[in-house]
Amino acid sequence: MNIIIFGPPGAGKGTQSNFIVKKFHLHQLSTGELLRKEIKDRTELGKQISSIINSGNLVSNEIVSDLIEKYISNKIYKSRLIFDGYPRNLNQATNLDNLLNKYDQKIDIALKLSVSLETIKKRILERKSLEKRADDSEEIVIKRYEMYEKNINPVIDFYKQTNLLKVVNGETTISEISNEISGLIESIKGWL
Ligand code: AP5
Ligand code: MG
Repeated sequence: MNIIIFGPPGAGKGTQSNFIVKKFHLHQLSTGELLRKEIKDRTELGKQISSIINSGNLVSNEIVSDLIEKYISNKIYKSRLIFDGYPRNLNQATNLDNLLNKYDQKIDIALKLSVSLETIKKRILERKSLEKRADDSEEIVIKRYEMYEKNINPVIDFYKQTNLLKVVNGETTISEISNEISGLIESIKGWL
């Protein structure tokens, strides 16, 4: 089973991915975390992308595509991936489809977490006091939200057309959301 989880910044993609990983024994593939690791490790790629990420913009489709292909092509993760934060635009959605076809895999469910900008600001500012993410200021989180809104509608349509889209209210408690997601995953035919 492969799962997509998407939603605006602070929607709970990472939080719910952790839950799904444990309950359904999948592997989380967070493009944001992979990119931040490149920056932390001061790799050539990290140096190239740090100012883009810290300003709330998206890095190029090619860069993220190369990162995710490494996982999709790896037999260890075959049909065991949860895509957190990918795809973010139509180009990435079609690219993901092509890559999965190439390695004889598919998406089983695309979960969209819906959260208001007001809630996002509150959560991100709270997180800022605990973790040190360079893109967690109020100004940059608004920018990240705008980038999400600007690019996501064709992605939503893409997964609606293939009947894979499930919208989850991301405003409730972490455990209520986990329960709803659990039920949705378990309702996939032949998920075991
Ligand atoms: P990324 O790392 O994906 O960041 P994001 O999309 O902005 O989302 P966050 O990680 O901030 O939030 P989340 O939804 O994971 O929420 P979380 O569970 O942490 O991307 C960062 C950057 O990398 C992008 O801006 C871009 O530059 C680049 N990038 C990444 N992917 C890319 C791609 N595909 N293409 C191009 N560029 C890409 O929760 C947030 C906080 O809220 C936590 O403190 C949590 O404890 C709390 N919380 C969660 N759920 C609840 C709840 N229900 N109630 C109360 N609190 C909650
Ligand atoms: Mg995250």
